[in-house]
Amino acid sequence: MPQKYDEASRPIGVFDSGVGGLTVVKELNKLLPNEKIVYFGDTGRVPYGNKSRETIIHYSLQVAYFLMKKKIKMLVVACNTASSVSLPTLKRHFHIPIIGVIEPGAKTAIETTKTGKIGVIGTLGTVRSNSYKKALKKIKKNVNVLQDPCPLFVHLAEDGWNKNKIAQMVSDEYLKIFEGKGIDTLILGCTHYPLLKDVIQRSVGKKVQLIDSGKETAKEVEQILSKKSLLNPYKMTEKNHSVFYVSDFPHKFKEVSQRFLSKELKHVHKVIL
Ligand code: DGL
Repeated sequence: MPQKYDEASRPIGVFDSGVGGLTVVKELNKLLPNEKIVYFGDTGRVPYGNKSRETIIHYSLQVAYFLMKKKIKMLVVACNTASSVSLPTLKRHFHIPIIGVIEPGAKTAIETTKTGKIGVIGTLGTVRSNSYKKALKKIKKNVNVLQDPCPLFVHLAEDGWNKNKIAQMVSDEYLKIFEGKGIDTLILGCTHYPLLKDVIQRSVGKKVQLIDSGKETAKEVEQILSKKSLLNPYKMTEKNHSVFYVSDFPHKFKEVSQRFLSKELKHVHKVIL
């Protein structure tokens, strides 16, 4: 097998603090159906959103070392909190393409906004890090950014309460801070939030465009792999499939993943890092 083919047939590593990163996997599967994924969900230590910087970096490095041993060709940090905090450290440690979800989301938001007023919702960690604000201002200096942490959304999504009236009430309460502020674009800056898209849209009104970072990240993965001639030339088969690792509760992960991917995952394993 030519060396380049060998490299291209390796999996893409994807990690998240839990199941939320599956929203990115869903987009990757849609756009790049030939790509094998090795996923790690840190279900034993979720949430990352309320942990300190040092702890998030420590966890991210541990997970990345684990995925590197699986001979991945690229790493996608499919967690907004870990992307906000750990990306520079990960890039210093490993020499394969590594991307997070912040920059792709920010780029699309700038392309979308007409008023130059953008809202960002995410975990406490993401909002405190100002990662979206910095990424947005790096592209366009005079953009106006209004941020709001919505920590309860993660639990609502995990428990499947993403479309009921409780979800709508929570969403209305969180998002009323955007009322009358003139934002026309709202970044869903947390991997879980696309599951609450309908209620969020109702809270902010139809005129506000919602940006799903997962979708944009998948597009960026395709661009990078294609530029480096690393798109998998082989089709996926029964033997040659994506694999999912978690640090705890594989059964719960399987159950919740149905909600995220609308299909059952067969290959879920528990590992202790
Ligand atoms: N995956 C996390 C994120 O996108 C949300 C859950 C957590 O707090 O760990 O920020």
